[in-house]
Amino acid sequence: MLNFSFFSLALILILSSKESKQVEVHVCDTTNSNNSFIYCNGPILDAVNFHQLYNDSKEFVDMPLKQDPLDVYNAWIATFGNETAASLNKTDVQEFVDQYFSAAGTELIECTPDDWQEKPPKLATIADPQLREWAYKLNGIWKHLCRKIDPSIGQHTSRYSLLYVPHHFIVPGGRFREFYYWDAYWIIKGLIACDMYNTTRSMIRNLATMVEQHGFVPNGGRVYYLQRSQPPLLSAMVYELYEATNDKDFIAELLPTLLKELNFWNQNRMANVTMHGKDYQVYQYKTPSNVPRPESYRVDTQNSAEFANGADKQQFYQDLASAAESGWDFSTRWLSDYKSLTSIETTKVLPVDLNGLLCWNMDIMEYLYEQVGDTTNSQVFRNRRAVFRDTVQNVFYNRTDGTWYDYNLRTQSHNPRFYTSTAVPLFANCYNTLNTGKSQKVFDYMDKMGVFNYPGGIPSSMSQESSEQWDFPNGWSPNNHMIIEGLRKSANPEMQDKGFLIASKWVLGNFRVFYETGHMWEKYNVIGSYPQPGSGGEYDVQDGFGWTNGAILDLLLTYNDRLFVPEFFINTTAPSTAESNVETTTKSISFCSSSIVSVIVTCMCLIYSSS
Ligand SMILES: *[C@@H]1O[C@H](CO)[C@@H](O)[C@H](O)[C@H]1NC(C)=O
Ligand SMILES: *[C@@H]1O[C@H](CO)[C@@H](O)[C@H](O)[C@H]1NC(C)=O
Ligand SMILES: *[C@@H]1O[C@H](CO)[C@@H](O)[C@H](O)[C@H]1NC(C)=O
Ligand SMILES: *[C@@H]1O[C@H](CO)[C@@H](O)[C@H](O)[C@H]1NC(C)=O
Ligand SMILES: *[C@@H]1O[C@H](CO)[C@@H](O)[C@H](O)[C@H]1NC(C)=O
Ligand SMILES: *[C@@H]1O[C@H](CO)[C@@H](O)[C@H](O)[C@H]1NC(C)=O
Ligand SMILES: *[C@@H]1O[C@H](CO)[C@@H](O)[C@H](O)[C@H]1NC(C)=O
Ligand SMILES: *[C@@H]1O[C@H](CO)[C@@H](O)[C@H](O)[C@H]1NC(C)=O
Repeated sequence: MLNFSFFSLALILILSSKESKQVEVHVCDTTNSNNSFIYCNGPILDAVNFHQLYNDSKEFVDMPLKQDPLDVYNAWIATFGNETAASLNKTDVQEFVDQYFSAAGTELIECTPDDWQEKPPKLATIADPQLREWAYKLNGIWKHLCRKIDPSIGQHTSRYSLLYVPHHFIVPGGRFREFYYWDAYWIIKGLIACDMYNTTRSMIRNLATMVEQHGFVPNGGRVYYLQRSQPPLLSAMVYELYEATNDKDFIAELLPTLLKELNFWNQNRMANVTMHGKDYQVYQYKTPSNVPRPESYRVDTQNSAEFANGADKQQFYQDLASAAESGWDFSTRWLSDYKSLTSIETTKVLPVDLNGLLCWNMDIMEYLYEQVGDTTNSQVFRNRRAVFRDTVQNVFYNRTDGTWYDYNLRTQSHNPRFYTSTAVPLFANCYNTLNTGKSQKVFDYMDKMGVFNYPGGIPSSMSQESSEQWDFPNGWSPNNHMIIEGLRKSANPEMQDKGFLIASKWVLGNFRVFYETGHMWEKYNVIGSYPQPGSGGEYDVQDGFGWTNGAILDLLLTYNDRLFVPEFFINTTAPSTAESNVETTTKSISFCSSSIVSVIVTCMCLIYSSS
């Protein structure tokens, strides 16, 4: 009996490994880290998550080791042998972790940026006194979000999951306690609004060290992000800083790095697609890793339960991590049934936003090379971008609906649902801007989808079947900002005005929530008579919040003489510190203003639909 079951077990193992399992690609391994068997796979990671020592799996993988990783691993084996996680006692596992690990995030030191000032001159141009005060408060939050890495960890980098970067930086906030890639673009927009050019340069140089060491910019500053990137905006950060400073030396310093990063996308993230008999090469989000994400180990493992061990499960993990690479983790955009996470098929989707952004990258490269007098390379990128702009039109633009869509390789058609990504080619100027009707069409499409009907801004999607965080009713700053900017940068004055109206909605909504809660949030619920912090997805809504603050500061400056808090909107100044006064002031204004906000919003909706 014993022999038989051992035999069948062995047979199953052989079958599954031989026939249907791909090579396992871990999120970090010995090629890029010295502690992968602690933070990226192995028995400790497994046991900590099996016993749910922490509700958020990210907590454990952010905890520094008190000794070298191999010593800790050996101590684990000495204590528990090779028992499976299930046969261990939770208390014993917790004791082990307490003995060998320090609290999460203790390797990061808070800092005040050297270029921070209490009243940045540009913010003084904001005409509305309440918005100006608010801008100064947001400027103050940079001091709470500034981090540098304890230089002493240089001696023992293997004891940390943190990726070492030399300069200080601004973090998003909450559980996002290290640097993040695409967040940094909106953070930098806000830093530039506050004249913080040194901090901007530091953040860009940090990301550049990642490209030098790893060939690309990882999703964030931890070893468990080493197999995936995020929406590519490094060249855009350099561009924005250059526009603010005219510093050609800095461009010259960064251009080789930008080129290297683009090559990463060209070599590792391209797919072929045939449309109307023609072949095109476009970009997609597709990490090679096919294991649970360590920072979401428990939920990934649980969600994978319905797949048999082997290739299907590995594909599921790859699609999850690839969605995380898109920044949109998670959204019905990636789900074949628009509902259940298990139907995820990110690697079958050709995403319109990624391709729009790479088109912008090429445009920026042309411009930056030209600025430093390198006409040869400038010409190379001019040609490349001209070809790619046509590709984006041919693959992603839908003439029937007058907008850009994701293209699905399985269905061989566009995904005709609304996602805020629809407007990214507009933001990225990836169309013939002489065609002034194009922005109007995208606007009309969004209007038809009803996305302007919400008081708090534009929701990520109109899809309500899931409770994922990049869906209805959550609105996010990067997306609202890109739509506003796409309309503002269009050569169509009417659309520029629409951009302003959306901006006032987004800004006043954020202002209102700051007033009510004393915080800036990662995302907002845009429905109701006024917005609230968002929810849904795999972790609680976070406050801080880097990109939210950056997008608002940028919009407050862009519309410094046009944006006003209506007199009846909030009739006091916002609370002076985060927690204080919130309760009392909330009570005194909530009665009158909630109905008034709906009046304002109704007016805005009327303005929209009258066009
Ligand atoms: C691992 O540690 C060795 C010795 O300390 C070091 O030389 C090497 O660069 C480290 N590797 C990585 C990928 O960090
Ligand atoms: C963890 O989650 C459970 C329910 O899912 C909750 O009861 C518990 O309070 C949470 N623990 C912490 C530390 O947040
Ligand atoms: C358990 O680990 C020991 C080494 O510590 C090894 O010799 C042994 O074969 C392992 N047992 C099983 C069942 O894998
Ligand atoms: C776990 O171990 C502790 C002592 O280390 C003991 O008190 C407890 O009963 C054990 N729990 C289980 C479920 O075995
Ligand atoms: C910015 O950095 C430069 C060079 O490191 C330094 O000389 C200057 O004082 C810094 N500016 C501010 C405002 O901190
Ligand atoms: C796309 O097609 C080209 C030319 O046929 C080929 O060289 C390349 O490997 C293909 N790329 C992918 C990702 O399949
Ligand atoms: C364009 O959109 C229409 C309507 O949503 C749809 O029927 C059509 O299939 C789309 N075109 C492509 C190429 O997918
Ligand atoms: C706003 O509040 C102040 C006192 O806090 C009061 O003097 C003023 O009349 C109020 N304005 C409106 C429009 O209610």
